[in-house]
Amino acid sequence: MNNQTLWSGRFEKNVDKSTLKFTSSLDVDKKLLFYDVMGSLAHVRMLKKCKIIHEEDADKIIEGLKKIDADIKSGKFVLNESLEDIHTNVEFALTELIGPVGGKLHTGRSRNDQVATDFKMYLRDSVLEIISLINVLIDTLIAIAKNNTCAIMPGFTHMQHAQPVTVAQHMLAYVFKFGRDALRFFDAFKRMNECPLGVAALAGTVYPIDRNMTAKSLGFEKPTSNSMDSVSDRDFVAELAFCAAMVANHMSNMAEELVLWSSQEFGFIEMNDKYTTGSSIMPQKKNPDIAELIRGKTGSVTGNLVSLLMMTKGLPLSYNRDLQEDKAPMMASLDTVSGCLKMIRPIISTMKFNTETMRTGSSSGFINATDLADYLVTHGLPFRYAHEIVGKLVRYCIENNKKLEDLSIKEFSKFSPQIGEDVYSAISIEKCVEKRKSYGGTSSQSVDMQISQATTDCNERKRFVTTESNKIKKCWQDLVQ
Ligand code: ARG
Repeated sequence: MNNQTLWSGRFEKNVDKSTLKFTSSLDVDKKLLFYDVMGSLAHVRMLKKCKIIHEEDADKIIEGLKKIDADIKSGKFVLNESLEDIHTNVEFALTELIGPVGGKLHTGRSRNDQVATDFKMYLRDSVLEIISLINVLIDTLIAIAKNNTCAIMPGFTHMQHAQPVTVAQHMLAYVFKFGRDALRFFDAFKRMNECPLGVAALAGTVYPIDRNMTAKSLGFEKPTSNSMDSVSDRDFVAELAFCAAMVANHMSNMAEELVLWSSQEFGFIEMNDKYTTGSSIMPQKKNPDIAELIRGKTGSVTGNLVSLLMMTKGLPLSYNRDLQEDKAPMMASLDTVSGCLKMIRPIISTMKFNTETMRTGSSSGFINATDLADYLVTHGLPFRYAHEIVGKLVRYCIENNKKLEDLSIKEFSKFSPQIGEDVYSAISIEKCVEKRKSYGGTSSQSVDMQISQATTDCNERKRFVTTESNKIKKCWQDLVQ
């Protein structure tokens, strides 16, 4: 081979530098280096076992790949930037080490199946890391919930005071959102865990390869079923990009609340100095920049999902070079999400809740109006009728600058004769919270149930991550044996 490409034979002239530069993916796919070597080791061990290449040749290739793996681990492996991708880099490095016999590695496979396999292996590890980060975030939120089952705060709809809730209930809302995010990654992981290696360019291969063996030795559940689907499938990329966009959205929702809560107007929380920034001009400022950046970065994560869907939408079967454009947005989304997960957790674990301010805020805005209507319902009124009466009472309070609990029985009875002394306890903010014992409600009893449910779910996900990580680690150990 006199050329820097893997396909020079058919060409009379060398490829123009600009072509190489434009088509190169090395800048992005160099992150697949380790997985490319593992995939190659699995492939050559299979070629050996199936007697597709001679034992001595296979052993030379195995030794060469093991040396490359050791070089990667010790930081000695140097990429040749003039080669078009990571697969070419590994193959050239191998040939340099062991001579032309290295060329036998590519028997019965192509870069089309190779890149899909490498990318799936890379993504599996990223997904396990993200699930772990979500689990840690959930642990933090659960700990805050446990300490705040009695801390009352206003609950909002339309950003208006709606009904009183507890800090625990509010934090648990995010626990369940993030729990679903983790589960989505978990599901996507299981769906993508099929190995494309050995489908070759698009149609399969004439060699008697054993795809079950390669799939198993790389930690996949099984080989993919259709060769053309295998090299064109990027569903797993779009799916993970959605998983990333969804968790980014949830972090963004939370970040938005943290920004609001830390404002002078709300004053619900105080962020730790370590996770805030100042202003270059206004000396008094303590800004929630990290939360704002988390909110802002959601834009690119969502954009990446759209890029990927657009990139694949017009493609005929099977492999097309467009597919090379999948890596940058996907890797960026996962990197951004893991960066945000790593930052949002310490903001939350170190911030201080001003529970007094939250409690005081809960007694404004007629937040107990629904409870007054419910009180009338328990005294026999139809809910619609009760709603109307309380609406009038609220209007009366606004006109007279009073709260519902400030009204005398005499004032109440002008609106409804059913209202008696017991109304004050019925509309006390603490009661409003404690009475909401319905499944999933904000009472401490319901919150305790939610905490135990969320803890069980989180532990199950932790077990999944440990099992899968160990399984993958064992594969790598066996491959370099
Ligand atoms: N670098 C390509 C990718 O990331 C793999 C190479 C396949 N190239 C080809 N001409 N078939 O998708």
